Amino acid sequence: MLATKLNVAFYGHVRQYHSIQAEIGANLKEVLESGQYVLGPMLKRFEQELADFHRTKHAIGVGNGTDALWLTFKALGIGRGDECITTTNTFFATAEAIWIAGATAVFVDSDARTNCLDPSRIEAAITPRTKALIPVHLYGQCADMKAIRKIADRHHLLVIEDSAQAIAARGDGFSVAELSDAATISFIIQKNLGTFGDGGAVVTNNAGIDRLVRKLRNHGSDQRSCHSPGYNSRLDDLHAGILSAKLRHIEEWSDLRRKWAARYSKGLARVRNITLPYEAPGYRHVYHLYVIETERPEHRDALLHFLNEEGVDAKCHYPIAIHQQEGFPWGHEARIVGPIHNSERNAACCISLPMFPELTEEEVDYAVDKVMEWDRRVR
Ligand SMILES: Cc1ncc(COP(=O)(O)O)c(C=O)c1O
Repeated sequence: MLATKLNVAFYGHVRQYHSIQAEIGANLKEVLESGQYVLGPMLKRFEQELADFHRTKHAIGVGNGTDALWLTFKALGIGRGDECITTTNTFFATAEAIWIAGATAVFVDSDARTNCLDPSRIEAAITPRTKALIPVHLYGQCADMKAIRKIADRHHLLVIEDSAQAIAARGDGFSVAELSDAATISFIIQKNLGTFGDGGAVVTNNAGIDRLVRKLRNHGSDQRSCHSPGYNSRLDDLHAGILSAKLRHIEEWSDLRRKWAARYSKGLARVRNITLPYEAPGYRHVYHLYVIETERPEHRDALLHFLNEEGVDAKCHYPIAIHQQEGFPWGHEARIVGPIHNSERNAACCISLPMFPELTEEEVDYAVDKVMEWDRRVR
């Protein structure tokens, strides 16, 4: 057991910045010296790098991951009267984007082990109005896209992957954006590929989505002075420069996240009152978050409080599922199909331990030690 108290931060943004400060600085200088800061050459370069990384034909930089979702929905003609099937144990933005597009959010349960959309629950929720499936690659692990694709084909549905948390993740024999119409990414600070502010992107092989999202993000314009109704949601070139520098390191950083996840799981292997994250065979989980669950919901806040008191900055993602938020659904269209016990259990029992590539062995071991100390005290 480690004797001295440590403070283990949840995020390592500044450590990461220091590790590649010169590369980021060089890209920022290039943008500043170019005199082109919006829809300029750095954005173009980053979009190409991002498309190459995903092996997609197109990548479009937008203002944030939420816009990436609903701009894609709009580009695909998803709107009023259409139903989109997703889960309630995700970040709020997944449902928010469905509502911004004017569509109906239909929630089904998540898989008990991966916490991602459970394919076996989808067909019961399909109606003649169903237009799209929106799996979320929660915590950095891909949903079962092979099963989801099969259902989409059977019912002629669109599939949009909310991959905000899962850049560089892979499934068993498939990659992100391979089995869908498009995948959307968030670059907000804390994401695995995060800028120092907001940013997002759509990656797709569909030329129509590419053309329309490009237009929609820029006031409905793809030609100077010619417009149709659109929005202003562009990824600034300064952010593109930061992201371009960071993208070069994403595989190595994902490996480090996986290394810390393995160290947590090994250290916590004998725990009695907690469930550890499940990694589906053949999948490359990139541990945007390392999420444990207390066996009993009433233990969650006690463990969280204990860890925080002991200097471990643990958090919860997401303790209030979307359908449990006050005021749900705020006059928007929403349906819940079947029991959603897994999503509710996930919300009630989840705790995220510190997870970022620049953690140290000492920090991970200290967090493990504290979880084990709490676990031993529980009757
Ligand atoms: C699953 C999920 N979807 C969508 C978003 C929205 O991304 P953003 O915050 O960049 O709008 C996020 C992250 O914030 C997310 O985690």
